[in-house]
Amino acid sequence: MHPLINLDDYEAAARELIAPGAWAYIHSGAADEITVRWNREAFNAIALSPRVLNDVSNVDTRVHLLGHDLAHPVLLAPVAMHGLASSEGEIATARGAHAARAGMVLSSYTSKRIEEVTAVGPSPLWFQLYMQEREFTRDLIARVCDAGCSALCVTVDTPVGGARDRQARANFDYPADLPYRTVRPGDNPCTWKDIEWIREISSVPVLLKGIMHPDDAERAVAAGAAGIIVSNHGGRNLDTLPATIAVLPRIAARVAGRIPVLLDGGVRRGTDVLKALALGAQAVMIGRPYIYGLAVNGAEGVASVIGILRAELELAMKLTGRTSVAALDASVIWS
Ligand code: FNR
Ligand code: LAC
Repeated sequence: MHPLINLDDYEAAARELIAPGAWAYIHSGAADEITVRWNREAFNAIALSPRVLNDVSNVDTRVHLLGHDLAHPVLLAPVAMHGLASSEGEIATARGAHAARAGMVLSSYTSKRIEEVTAVGPSPLWFQLYMQEREFTRDLIARVCDAGCSALCVTVDTPVGGARDRQARANFDYPADLPYRTVRPGDNPCTWKDIEWIREISSVPVLLKGIMHPDDAERAVAAGAAGIIVSNHGGRNLDTLPATIAVLPRIAARVAGRIPVLLDGGVRRGTDVLKALALGAQAVMIGRPYIYGLAVNGAEGVASVIGILRAELELAMKLTGRTSVAALDASVIWS
């Protein structure tokens, strides 16, 4: 067994436990996986600028997001079919999220029903929506809202599925028996008109996930989005899209605090979280790493992955001389 000190250790351990076809699905990106690499390289290329001799004996990682007081700014991104990593699937994930006080976004492609997940009590619990046929979508929204989901996260970056070469080579296909799936991603493309409709029929805030252009961020604000998630889908859709951390500053500048901006893609270190917050994100989400935690050690593995990131964030805050999230601004980036 690898020592489990950081998130890469969890990835190495999970690789030995997850079946090869599922591994190809989870780990891979689109085409040549250039964006997958860029997501990491762009974080690595950003240098930090520490201030010394501040009293850093206490650091405060709390953030306020869409009416929730969060203990820290790391949420679990929507990932399809946790059943591929553990038979308990999203229920174990929710237990881990609850233990580590992390918010969770449940995928439309969840292997478990939302009622079973909310019963475990992760907070906040949001539901990720892929636009499907309207009547089906209307019922689904009513149902997830009744079950206690406090926001919808509409994924807007998948008008068609990406070129998943590794997945295709492994002959991986989506299981047919998921509770809320009727179509493949993209079989029912979503437009700004649908966003309007979703907002009208929803009793909870609606976030848009997969914004990569400042003009779309502007349009999201105009459309009444409660927040946006800067995301290239973990490099799984269009290869050679830029790294999300490279795109974030321009989008944050355009949004100018009107709605929260979140980021995902390649967050593997506490310093990555710190950089995202410094460059304008209110919170970050992780995808693959918690699935690896789930595969390695169920709910405890999920909690451990979140705990490692949080501890690394606190360390990075202390070592840069910043004691609160509010103090994480562009001055912490070396330029
Ligand atoms: C995803 N992602 C995703 N996004 C979404 O909106 N709905 C979904 O069902 C899924 N499913 C999914 C499955 C798997 C196996 C992965 C790895 C990813 C994308 C996810 O929410 C997030 O954007 C990325 O995973 C973030 O990148 P990292 O943290 O994996 O690098
Ligand atoms: C994926 C889809 C389900 O990334 O979002 O596989």
